[in-house]
Amino acid sequence: MLKKQIGIIGLGIMGTNLTLNFEKNGYQISIFNRTKDKINELMLNYPKKNIKPYYTLKEFISSLNHPKYILLMVKSGKATDETIKKLIPYLKKKDIIIDGGNTYFKDTIKRYNKLKKIGIDFIGMGISGGEEGALNGASIMPGGDKTIYNKISHFLIKIAAKKNNRSCVDYIGPNGSGHYVKMIHNGIEYGNMQLISETYNILKNILLINNKKISKIFNKWNKKELNSYLIKITRNILKFKNKKNKYLIDLILDKADNKGTGKWASISALELESPFSLITEAVFNRYLSNLKEERKIASKNKKIINKKIKRIKEKIFINDLEHALYFGIIISYTQGFLLMQKASRKYKWNLNYSVIAKIFQEGCIIKAKILNKIRSIYKKNNQIKNLLLSSFFQKKTKKYQSSIRNIIIESIKHGIPTPTLSSALSYYDSYNSDKLPANLIQAQRDYFGNHMYERTDKKGKFHTNWKI
Ligand code: 6PG
Repeated sequence: MLKKQIGIIGLGIMGTNLTLNFEKNGYQISIFNRTKDKINELMLNYPKKNIKPYYTLKEFISSLNHPKYILLMVKSGKATDETIKKLIPYLKKKDIIIDGGNTYFKDTIKRYNKLKKIGIDFIGMGISGGEEGALNGASIMPGGDKTIYNKISHFLIKIAAKKNNRSCVDYIGPNGSGHYVKMIHNGIEYGNMQLISETYNILKNILLINNKKISKIFNKWNKKELNSYLIKITRNILKFKNKKNKYLIDLILDKADNKGTGKWASISALELESPFSLITEAVFNRYLSNLKEERKIASKNKKIINKKIKRIKEKIFINDLEHALYFGIIISYTQGFLLMQKASRKYKWNLNYSVIAKIFQEGCIIKAKILNKIRSIYKKNNQIKNLLLSSFFQKKTKKYQSSIRNIIIESIKHGIPTPTLSSALSYYDSYNSDKLPANLIQAQRDYFGNHMYERTDKKGKFHTNWKI
C-alpha cells in the first residue's frame, strides 16, 4: 500500500500552500514550524482539514511512521542546515528528507553526500510556481537517487501541475541536479522578465503609449507565439488600478530586488565557461536599478528625447517589437539550456532536456508556448549543440533579426536602454559569425605575455617576437 503520510517543516507561503495541496490530494499531513504563530495561523484558517499540528520537533517526528517522508520548506542556507542537524538524531535508515527550497546546488551536493554516509536519503527538489503553483499544481524538479525518487514520485505526481494529462514532474538526475535545473529556470525567469520590461519601456517612452493600450498589446501577443505566464501577468499588471483609480504600476518604485538565484546561475556560467550574457545582463540590470539615488543625479546630464519621432509607423514598430521580444526570449532559453548541457557533462548528471522542457510547460514562472518547440527539438536530439542550430529557431531568428535590429536602433536614438535585447542580438551575431576578431586578442596576448596563438594555415602553437 502506498504511504499517505507526509511531514512538512516550514510554513511560509510555499510551505502552507503545499500543505493544502497535499491535503487536497488525500494525504495526512503533520506540520511543524520554528515559530508557533505560523502553525496557529494555518490551523485557524483551515480548521477542518486533515492536518496535524505539532509544536515540538520530537512530537512532529513521532507522528510519522517509518520510513518517514519529510519535506523541508525552510529558508535556504543556514536554516536548512540547522533543521537537518536537529532532525538527524530522530531519523533512521531509509527515512527521506526532501529539500523543496531554492537551495544552491552545491549545498545540495554536500548535504546529499553527508546524509548518504549515515544512511538517510536526500532529495534536492526545485519547486516553481509561486504560491498559486504550490496550491494548485507546481512544476517540480527532484534530484537525488532514482530509487528514492521512485519511492516519492506517487505523491509528487499528485501535487504537480498537469499539461495534457502529464504531470510536470519527473526525475531530473543525481544529487544537486534538481536544484541546478531550478536555478537555471530562475536565470531564464530573470532574462525573460528583463526582456519584457524593456519592451514595456519602449512602448511607453518611444511610442508614448498609455498603460491600458500597452496592456492590450501584451494581451494580443499572449494569443500568439509569445504566449506565456509572464506575458499574461504583465498584461494584468498594466491594467491594474488602485482604489483611487490610479494605475498601480506607475506608483511602484523602479528598484528590482532579487534573492540570488540569478546570480548563482551566472556564477555557474562563468565557472563552466558557457556564454550566458543575456541572463547575466538581466542580473546586472537589477543591481543597476537599485542605484536609484545615483541614477536620479546622473539623469540630469541626459538629454531627454521624449518626443515621438514622427517617421515611426506605430503598427510596423509594434510588430517589430513583438518579433524582437520573441527573438530575445529564444536567446534566453537557448543560453539557459546550453548551460544545463555544460553542467550535465561536468557533473555527470545525464540530463534529459525534453523532460526538463516538459516540466517547465505548466505550473512554473517560465511556462510558455515556446517550450513546446524546445521540447520537440531535444526529443529528436538530446545532444543538439545549440537550439539556434535547429531548423525551427534558425528560421525564426533569421526572419526576426531585422525587427530586433530596428528596435535596438530606434531605442539607441531615443536613449532608451535595451541591455538584454542588445545582448540577444550580439550573441546571435557572434554565434553566427564564421570569423570573430579573436585573432587580434590572441595576437595581443602573445605580444604582451608570450601566450602563443594558433594559425589558420598550419597546425601547432606559435609565438612571435612582435617588438622587432
Ligand atoms: C518560482 C520563482 C521563485 C523565486 C521568485 C523570486 O519559480 O516560483 O522562481 O522561486 O523565488 O521568483 O525570485 P527573486 O527574488 O530572485 O526575483
